[in-house]
Amino acid sequence: MPFNFLIFFITLLKTHFIETNNMIKRIVSYIFPITRKVNSKFNGYLELTLSNGKTVLNSSKTNYSYGSLQRVLKFSIEQIDLSDKENILILGLGGGSVIQTLRKEFAYKGKITAIEIDPVIIDLAENEFGIVPDDNTLILCADAFDFVRNDDHKFDLVIIDLFIDDRIPEKFLLQEFWRELLAKVENNGNIIFNTLCNPTTNTQPIEAKLKKRGFDAFVYRYVEGTNKVLIANYH
Ligand SMILES: C[S@@+](CC[C@H](N)C(=O)[O-])C[C@H]1O[C@@H](n2cnc3c(N)ncnc32)[C@H](O)[C@@H]1O
Repeated sequence: MPFNFLIFFITLLKTHFIETNNMIKRIVSYIFPITRKVNSKFNGYLELTLSNGKTVLNSSKTNYSYGSLQRVLKFSIEQIDLSDKENILILGLGGGSVIQTLRKEFAYKGKITAIEIDPVIIDLAENEFGIVPDDNTLILCADAFDFVRNDDHKFDLVIIDLFIDDRIPEKFLLQEFWRELLAKVENNGNIIFNTLCNPTTNTQPIEAKLKKRGFDAFVYRYVEGTNKVLIANYH
């Protein structure tokens, strides 16, 4: 048997084994959820849970990606007009569920730039959820605060989904962050700011700043029963 054929045959067997193994795991997950823990310097213990054939990413107190969080962001995107959007900035890649929603459910074909501080999360997004960079999808491992301060591109839509477990890091509530952020939003642009109802985030100073800078600001409470989303439209 020629050597190349042998390699091809082994690769085929390996792929078949992995696919069969994954299929068995998905079937079993309808009866017993399968959980794997991952440790990260930034986010502490994260859990990947395969349940009813679907994997979700959770932190110790909240859903990070592909569960209710994905539905919260889908609801938020439905509130804005995506048709004129060409350039979207996502602060907080997580497992990348909002990228999946934009590409698959809204058939969004434009550019996406996603910023994520945690390399472990970027690795999970790629290897567990297939979120990989391509010509229209840029994934950067960086602190979102530094990115907003130093990058000089403008975006049509900014989605802010920054959590460490169930807390939004304080610096993303500062006027300084919002001043820099608003300078990055194109005319007619939108902002989606995802927060939790419990622990709640006081968004009033941000709403006031947005209104002063020519944005309409709407707050949706108890989205999926848990989240408070601020949506701003520039007019
Ligand atoms: C709820 S998850 C994001 C979920 C994601 N938007 C999705 O659609 O699946 C929150 C993410 O914010 C990231 N994060 C927290 N602080 C950050 C920072 N300073 N800069 C960039 N990312 C940060 C966390 O590592 C975590 O991955």
